[in-house]
Amino acid sequence: MRKEEFEDTRYVKIKNTDGQAFIKQFKKNLQVIYKKMKVLHEDNFILFPILDENEIVDILKNQQFEYEIIKRKGIIRNDYKFKSLKEALKNILPESLFHYIPNSYDIIGDIAILEFDKFNDLDAKIDDSLKIIIADALISVNKKVKTTYEKTSEIKGEFRVRDLKLLKGKDKSETLYRENGCSFKLDIKKIFFTPRLVFERKRLATAPINEGEVIFDLFSGVGPIAIQIAKRHKVMIHAFDINPVAYHYIKENISLNRLLGNVIPYNLDISSLILPSSEIGKNIQNKADRIIMNLPEKALNYINVACFLMKKSEGILHYYQFTEKPDVIEKTIENVKVTLSKFNYSIDKILNSKIVKHFSPKSELVVLDLKLRS
Ligand SMILES: C[S@@+](CC[C@H](N)C(=O)[O-])C[C@H]1O[C@@H](n2cnc3c(N)ncnc32)[C@H](O)[C@@H]1O
Repeated sequence: MRKEEFEDTRYVKIKNTDGQAFIKQFKKNLQVIYKKMKVLHEDNFILFPILDENEIVDILKNQQFEYEIIKRKGIIRNDYKFKSLKEALKNILPESLFHYIPNSYDIIGDIAILEFDKFNDLDAKIDDSLKIIIADALISVNKKVKTTYEKTSEIKGEFRVRDLKLLKGKDKSETLYRENGCSFKLDIKKIFFTPRLVFERKRLATAPINEGEVIFDLFSGVGPIAIQIAKRHKVMIHAFDINPVAYHYIKENISLNRLLGNVIPYNLDISSLILPSSEIGKNIQNKADRIIMNLPEKALNYINVACFLMKKSEGILHYYQFTEKPDVIEKTIENVKVTLSKFNYSIDKILNSKIVKHFSPKSELVVLDLKLRS
């Protein structure tokens, strides 16, 4: 249970015996009652918390019963749901520190991940205690959050994970996350995952995909793209990831979700597929109707693998890349076009091209949906 919190509040004070008449009067004007605060009782009086004194005076001008507007230290209702972190921190932090409250954070299952990008100019000690106060408030804003971590590094390494530091709650980085009707078990300290691609994954999963297509998800992680596609389409998806922990979770996630299609997971470096010694590579060469390349910092280095897997005649490529501004779409198309031509493929048609999200002050995440032919 959350500890009692107080806030200076205005109240309408009326006699207990007038309570019914008061409530009747306010049935149509409920917005003037300050629902965040508890109703108080003092001797034979009842105190209703209010938002705007003038409105109350106006509404009550023709009433028979007596009332008084008073001030008290109001008690915040235990079941009150704060609408924002800033609201939850209103009576806890001085306004001068509001500037340090992050504007956004990620929630993955029962875990919240915060980034404090405005903290550099604060004394280190205040720094940590302030972060914990903010994390605590985040837990009161989002009832399902049990653990809060701070991002302490960029996404790095071939597994694309970042360092996280516990702020408040249990140090438990495994969670269950639901998105677009699918469930995903994952360990946020050991695998890549971002909830910020929710709409992009929905877009891919609801794209016009033919029954029986053979699809390759070359950088599948715990399977959010492959599984959302297989949930809706009778297709065969080969899903690859080099990270053994991501492989462990994609296997669990395949069985967690009722799928129309098949997802076959592999734990390997996709560049090994093109080696003459690769039996898997031989079996799947030129089998792809559609390929998804969601490794935006390095996808261009693996276009050779995509061309090795793509059907000889034609196929669709969903290609993600971080591209430096300006002209990010034009530059991304040019990059892919030049690299494809080295492996005897060309762009037949650009089905879609767009900025998915801002990645950094200098670059954007771009997606291209391309029809290829050889
Ligand atoms: C940006 S994440 C994308 C994960 C997933 N598509 C998602 O939306 O959550 C890229 C993934 O590619 C994997 N990866 C990186 N290099 C790889 C390689 N050479 N072969 C196979 N997987 C690789 C990483 O382990 C990571 O899980």
